[in-house]
Amino acid sequence: MSDRVISPTSRPEEGAGEQSLRPRSLAEYIGQEQVVDSLRVFIEAARARREALDHILLYGPPGLGKTTLANVIAVEMGVSIKVTSGPVIERPGDLAAILTNLREGDVLFIDEVHRLSRIIEEVLYPTMEDYALDVVIGKGPAARSIRLKLPRFTLIGATTRIALMTSPLRDRFGATFRLDFYSMEAMKLIVARSAEILQIGIDESGVEEIALRARGTPRVANRLLRRVRDYAQVRGAGHIDQPTAMEALRMLEVDELGLDNADRRLLISLIDKFDGGPVGLDTLSASMSEDADTIMDVYEPYLLQLGFIDRTPRGRVATRRAYEHLSRPFVDKQDLQKSLFG
Ligand SMILES: Nc1ncnc2c1ncn2[C@@H]1O[C@H](COP(=O)(O)OP(=O)(O)OP(=O)(O)O)[C@@H](O)[C@H]1O
Ligand SMILES: [Mg+2]
Repeated sequence: MSDRVISPTSRPEEGAGEQSLRPRSLAEYIGQEQVVDSLRVFIEAARARREALDHILLYGPPGLGKTTLANVIAVEMGVSIKVTSGPVIERPGDLAAILTNLREGDVLFIDEVHRLSRIIEEVLYPTMEDYALDVVIGKGPAARSIRLKLPRFTLIGATTRIALMTSPLRDRFGATFRLDFYSMEAMKLIVARSAEILQIGIDESGVEEIALRARGTPRVANRLLRRVRDYAQVRGAGHIDQPTAMEALRMLEVDELGLDNADRRLLISLIDKFDGGPVGLDTLSASMSEDADTIMDVYEPYLLQLGFIDRTPRGRVATRRAYEHLSRPFVDKQDLQKSLFG
C-alpha cells in the first residue's frame, strides 16, 4: 500500500527531498489560514512576554504539514526543536533524558503523540503543568521520589488520531489546531513553489492539473510533481504542460479527482459486495485484505472529504456521488423502503 503514488504517508527515501521543500517560516507556509493567523497572535504574545509558548496539539490527516508547522513554530520563537515520537519513548528514563536536555523555551515535538504509553503519560503530566519531573531513585522500601525542576519548554504534539488520545493528555495542551485538506488555490501555490525550488519547468495548466489530483495534500502534490517530471523528461519535451501531466497521471492510474486503484477498489467493494453498506470497518478491511488502520488513516479522510462515503453508527456507506463517479446506478434505499412499505 505504501507504494501508492497518492499515499499521504511519508516514505523513507523521500526524507531529504521533503526537507528541501519544507516551508521554514510562517510567511512561507501556504494555506491553513485560520491556524496560521491564530499561531501568529499566539507566538507574538508569548514573545512579547518573553515566555515559552503554551503547549500545542496539531492534528489532522497525514501529509498536511504538522511536522513542518512544528518546525516553523520553533523558528518563529527563535528556539531549538527536539524531535521524537510516541512509540520511541518506551521507558520513563527515555523521557527524562530528553526533558533534562532541553533549554528554556525549547520546543519538544512528539509525533504520533496518541501512541505514548500510559506510564509515560503519567510522567508527562507534571512536566507539562509544573515543569517538574518526578524521578524515583532506588528500589524497594528504600525507594524515594525526588522532583527535578525543568526549564519551561513547549510541547508540540502531533497526531492523525485525536480520538485515540486520553482526555487528560488532550486537556493539558493550551491550544489545539486541526489541519484540513488544502484548498485548490493553496494547492496550486504549493505545486508552483515546489516546482520552482526543484527547478522544474511547468506552466500554469500543468500546475493546475497536478494540484487538482493531489487530494488537497502537499505531500501528495510534491510526489506527483516529481513523477510527472520524470515522465516529461523521458516521454515529453521536459517541460510540464497539461497534456503531459494528464498523460503521466493516467499512466500512474490517478484519476481526475486524485483517486487511485486502491480507492476505487474500496468503493467497488462497498458497492458491489455490501450493496453500498452500511458495513463495519473490520468487515470491509477483511474483504479488501487491507489493514483497518490504513483504511482509517489513508483511504477514508479523503473519501469523506469528497463526500463519497459516510460514517454512520452502523458502519460505512457509499453515497450517491460514489455511485456516480464509478458509473453505477444508484438506488436510494430509504426511498425504496418508503415506496415498498409506506
Ligand atoms: N503549508 C505548506 N506549504 C507548502 N508545503 C507544505 C506545507 N505543508 C506541508 N508541505 C509539504 O508537505 C510535506 C509533508 O508535510 P509534513 O511532513 O509536515 O506533514 P505531516 O502532517 O507531518 O505528515 P505526517 O502525518 O505523515 O507526519 C513537506 O515535506 C512539505 O514539503
Ligand atoms: Mg509528520
